[in-house]
Amino acid sequence: MDSTLIVTGGAGFIGSHVVRRLVCRYPEYRIVNVDKLTYAGNAENLADVEDCPNYVFEKTDITDAEGVRTIFDRYRPDGVIHLAAESHVDRSISHPDDFIMTNIVGTATLLNAALACWKDRFEGKRFYHVSTDEVYGSLGKEGSFTETTAYAPRSPYSASKAASDHLVRAYGHTFGLPVVLSNCSNNYGPCQFPEKLIPLAINNIKNNRPVPVYGKGENVRDWLYVLDHAQAIDLIYHRGGNGETYNIGGNNEWSNIEVIRLLCRIMDRKLQRAEGASEQLVAFVKDRAGHDLRYAIDSSKLQREMGWKPSLEFEEGLEKTVDWYLANEAWLQHVVSGEYQQYYKNQYENR
Ligand code: NAD
Ligand code: DAU
Repeated sequence: MDSTLIVTGGAGFIGSHVVRRLVCRYPEYRIVNVDKLTYAGNAENLADVEDCPNYVFEKTDITDAEGVRTIFDRYRPDGVIHLAAESHVDRSISHPDDFIMTNIVGTATLLNAALACWKDRFEGKRFYHVSTDEVYGSLGKEGSFTETTAYAPRSPYSASKAASDHLVRAYGHTFGLPVVLSNCSNNYGPCQFPEKLIPLAINNIKNNRPVPVYGKGENVRDWLYVLDHAQAIDLIYHRGGNGETYNIGGNNEWSNIEVIRLLCRIMDRKLQRAEGASEQLVAFVKDRAGHDLRYAIDSSKLQREMGWKPSLEFEEGLEKTVDWYLANEAWLQHVVSGEYQQYYKNQYENR
């Protein structure tokens, strides 16, 4: 193998698309997926590549310093793409400690292991930290986040991601660790856990259950198809400058109620329901605490420097996503059994 790459969080939503892309495009790389398999991690997401000769799975918690060191000693990686995180804002409101541990302590643990492993020679090495646009805070009606927008995180999730970004940059600045970062907007697509807006709505519409829309549904997100994010990560890992940050976004802003209405129209068509039937399920519920109003990403740096751009129109991407969820009933059934039922009850009952 020419190169060994550790991908953390590779059994999750975005991570599984990144792992599949790397395993298939770079047979000369050994891809080591380090994942704890929390409720959000799912080995089924990678069933199609698990037997590939250049793929290895290591079930490890990134906050376990000894476990992480053992993996670095065993594989002597050339690079790390770090995606493992607690990723759901609502869970960060009910259980902030998990976010502080995984997102902050876990990132520090990986940085320490990379530093120890690479200390004699940084050349040819790379620590890539995958982050979120939420670190920049909330926008009013105008403007978009650039790479130089000041950090202003407002939820335990975004604060923990901001802390991890700061640590990564500090290790780059202080110790010379070759780091690169990206901050991306909201992803959607196959294999997203149905706690997030789009897959939760697809699952509920399918089962004729109420679709919970927080507040008035006026909050705006910038949606990007997950495979476009995976492509951007591949480009940035290979071509990004040391110490640089790249914003990734869909240039695709929609209010939540607009997203849900579009999804309802697609679902009516796919499920051969009368026009307007799914929209009857929309239920406006109590708003998320501290709910950020609007995110929008300016990704012109990435577009200019690497020629990247989103490949799909939102309607096309949503339709592909709906098709995937309808065709993968078994996947959905597995992930909504067990823990999900209790989570759903706590999050939505009496809301
Ligand atoms: P996800 O919740 O679907 O997956 C997270 C993965 O990390 C899971 O496989 C889980 O098992 C693993 N994990 C969690 N804690 C761990 C630990 N302590 N040790 C090892 N593995 C652990 O998340 P996602 O939506 O795929 O997001 C991946 C990354 O991308 C995160 O860092 C997130 O902040 C960032 N991001 C997500 C989005 C989005 O819209 N989903 C947008 C921008 C950035
Ligand atoms: O912006 C990038 C971020 O996008 C990522 O860093 C996070 O990991 C990812 O979870 C996502 O965060 P959001 O909070 O924006 O995503 P979520 O799908 O939870 O919510 C999208 C919008 O929909 C948000 O305004 C809240 C609203 N919402 C969400 C749920 C789950 C509802 O109205 N009802 C719901 O039931």
